[in-house]
Amino acid sequence: MFKFASLLAFLSVLPSISYAQSQVYGQCGGIQWGGPTTCVSGSVCTYVNDYYSQCLPGSATSSTSTRSTTSSTSTRTTTSTTTTGTGPTSTPAAGNPFVGYDVFLNPYYAAEVKAAAAAMTDSSLAAKAASVANIPSFFWLDTVSKVPTLGTFLSNATALQTSSGKKQIVPIVVYDLPDRDCAAKASNGEFSIANGGQANYYNYIDQIVAQIKQYPNVRVVAVIEPDSLANLVTNLNVAKCANAQTTYKTCVTYALQQLASVGVYMYMDAGHAGWLGWPANIQPAASLFASMYKSANSSPFVRGLATNVANYNALSAASPDPITQGNSNYDELHYIQALGPMLASAGFPAQFVVDQGRSGQQNLRNQWGDWCNIKGAGFGTRPTTSTPSSLIDAIVWVKPGGESDGTSNSSSPRFDSTCSLSDATQPAPEAGTWFQTYFETLVSKANPSL
Ligand code: GLC
Repeated sequence: MFKFASLLAFLSVLPSISYAQSQVYGQCGGIQWGGPTTCVSGSVCTYVNDYYSQCLPGSATSSTSTRSTTSSTSTRTTTSTTTTGTGPTSTPAAGNPFVGYDVFLNPYYAAEVKAAAAAMTDSSLAAKAASVANIPSFFWLDTVSKVPTLGTFLSNATALQTSSGKKQIVPIVVYDLPDRDCAAKASNGEFSIANGGQANYYNYIDQIVAQIKQYPNVRVVAVIEPDSLANLVTNLNVAKCANAQTTYKTCVTYALQQLASVGVYMYMDAGHAGWLGWPANIQPAASLFASMYKSANSSPFVRGLATNVANYNALSAASPDPITQGNSNYDELHYIQALGPMLASAGFPAQFVVDQGRSGQQNLRNQWGDWCNIKGAGFGTRPTTSTPSSLIDAIVWVKPGGESDGTSNSSSPRFDSTCSLSDATQPAPEAGTWFQTYFETLVSKANPSL
């Protein structure tokens, strides 16, 4: 990220902007950070984690990288008094929510990609890299501090819809459960169950709802809590997951109910073929997802499930990767076609979205369970509503390709040994931060090519 932020400063052509300040979305703090710690006007240095503070759009009296204390309070604050919008209708449009909509290109990822392309010396690779900024990916609300930025994007999307006449759908990932990533370490989050995590999570959801209420004319689609419910299917032998079970269910139910009340189309994360697609896991998974759907009063805004989020599986493999041996659901299409009918018979008429952002190359892993910065991965099939199954609403890019899956630094508190396996690209930075060499490989190995 040092390279990224200093590059942005270097590229600045506005003489009034001091090179001592980071640009919007640049880094402005964190352990071992030696670059600028203040942000250009119109953005605020915002704590993301101990290793990373970032300039996010907005204004505040202070622009230092001091950690906000609001995220760790256990008191729930209400933001509903600040909302002015009327909210959407309570009945969703029938059918695929993506049809008839342009997917909003979030400026956060576009800024990461543009800076990355500008840092490349190979001009042909740089041109291909720059084109990735025009491919929609999801905006991850992985800390409460990013929620105001969602408001900025909804405002941008509303303006674009008005000026272009093209309806906009804004894709987000809701990802801030207390005791997050309970079976791994790389993406452990900001809230803990032991320290008011449930109340903090409710506040996080309330803030998202308050933003969405203000922009009722654009549509929002959300992937709900990657890995969380899948961990409850297979990882209750891990103490942190067993301890989190009730809280995860309570919090996800709250998210589903509240987001449905403002018309968000939702897909709960359902792991992938190599996780819940195994014979022993798929029926328990179907039962859990159906029960979550019912806990949200079977709202039609709970449209279905998202699979392969931040993973590397093919939607439709030319032939099974040898690591999938023993699982007839060897790709996402087989998994979805097996799971869909089980959900339907459990009372959940679920539709699917499938992440193919980093699935362009196959047969890369030593074991199917490997998930961290897999070597040789390339960008995959572009987002589209043209899919091989009527169960699949859209192929999407949920994981913003180029953001790390986890650090390979074994002294980090969030070091997960999966990130130092021989099929993981190293050295790798903290999860969610920019990983330039990884992005370059995704670009050069893209399939279809860029
Ligand atoms: C990982 C990170 C998270 C990031 C996401 C998308 O899950 O933990 O911070 O937003 O990936 O890159």
